[in-house]
Amino acid sequence: MTASNKTLARRRRHLMDLAEPDSIIIVPAAREQLRNGDAMFAFRQDSDFLYLTGFSEPEAVLVLIPGRETGEQILFCRERDPERERWDGPRLGLDGARERLGLDDAFPIADLDEILPGLMEDRDHIYHSVGRDPAFDRQVIGWRNQLRKLKRNARGPEEFIALDHVLHELRLFKSTEELKAMRRAAKISATAHRRAMQVCRPGLGEPDLTAELMHEFTRNGCPPAYLPIVAGGRNALVLHYVANDQPLPDDGLVLIDAGCEYDGYAADISRTFPVSGRFTPAQRKVHDLVLAAQHAAIDRVRPGNAFDDFHETACRVLTEGLIDLGLLSGKLEDNLEQETYKRFYMHKTGHWLGLDVHDVGDYRIDGHSRVLEKNMVTTVEPALYIGDDDDIPAEFRNIGVRIEDDIRVTDGDPENLTGSVPASADDIEALMQS
Ligand code: GLY
Ligand code: MN
Ligand code: MN
Repeated sequence: MTASNKTLARRRRHLMDLAEPDSIIIVPAAREQLRNGDAMFAFRQDSDFLYLTGFSEPEAVLVLIPGRETGEQILFCRERDPERERWDGPRLGLDGARERLGLDDAFPIADLDEILPGLMEDRDHIYHSVGRDPAFDRQVIGWRNQLRKLKRNARGPEEFIALDHVLHELRLFKSTEELKAMRRAAKISATAHRRAMQVCRPGLGEPDLTAELMHEFTRNGCPPAYLPIVAGGRNALVLHYVANDQPLPDDGLVLIDAGCEYDGYAADISRTFPVSGRFTPAQRKVHDLVLAAQHAAIDRVRPGNAFDDFHETACRVLTEGLIDLGLLSGKLEDNLEQETYKRFYMHKTGHWLGLDVHDVGDYRIDGHSRVLEKNMVTTVEPALYIGDDDDIPAEFRNIGVRIEDDIRVTDGDPENLTGSVPASADDIEALMQS
């Protein structure tokens, strides 16, 4: 991660300021996951750890001890080891970590069990994310018990406090530096979507479009932020379709939901377009309706509005349109009350976006949908998934459309980070024909 020393130290300072006095805060790195033999899954750092350290190696633990005179910000990490580095690549090492990550001190990860109980002495509270890594939970409890046993008069921390709530409030509000990374992730992902639209033609398969997306991500040094969805025809009705291995239907639609990760930050874009480059009248009607819902919803992403507000707006527009298309019947208000749209639209209209694609941060406070504030970033992704039941007119069967953009809450109009991908049927057709 390219966040500066100063930024990283400021985030840690901020977290310590929010913690109870006499606390110790413990944040472990992600673990490497074995795939088989000696082959690993691609390593992805834990987002909380990354946010606070900018450090992308495994086998590390950040410990913050506010007010400790000999150093408040400490990292345990792997030491330099020329033999291991020959196989696995360079390590930052203790000196590198101290210098590059703006920490007060760094110790070998091998000494964690020996040093950590002493750091807990005189601390009343342990901030830790319990339940994410059970083996690490046991280690933390073990250190605390060890301290109490070894030093009979040592108090040792009395209370565990969930780190998530405090830390995730910080992560929810994006800084200028973070927004820069998010705009870059958005731009590369937008280019990838445009590429997929431009190469698409009958005769290709889902793998061809997947390859276009991955090419654009990879040439920019970015991994995908999540498994891309490239779903032709009725595959679009499977919400988490990731097989991406089928031929594309000549006269059908293809739904792409894909975004890359730049410097740890995710983009999340969906577009739906006709394989042939021309929407059928029925496809266009459904697409226009989802787009109208998205425009109305995006316009509600403003400070002071509740998070649920834009979802409710999207549901209202979709329901109205479904009645007009003859896919629902009866009065608008009755349909909304009975949530009849759920037959065609069964997910929420957005989620926070940041280091995680479904980013952290509470959606409700004291039982109420939380109010949007400047520099929160959310997706806005209404959709319609129309099956092939007998009561569905033939022209609308098996049409799945989702349109998704990444929206920043500003003082004024919402900022669409991903608006450079054509979204209207006319603009999509124009790009595909160009
Ligand atoms: N790509 C995952 C989502 O849209 O929520
Ligand atoms: Mn999304
Ligand atoms: Mn998505």
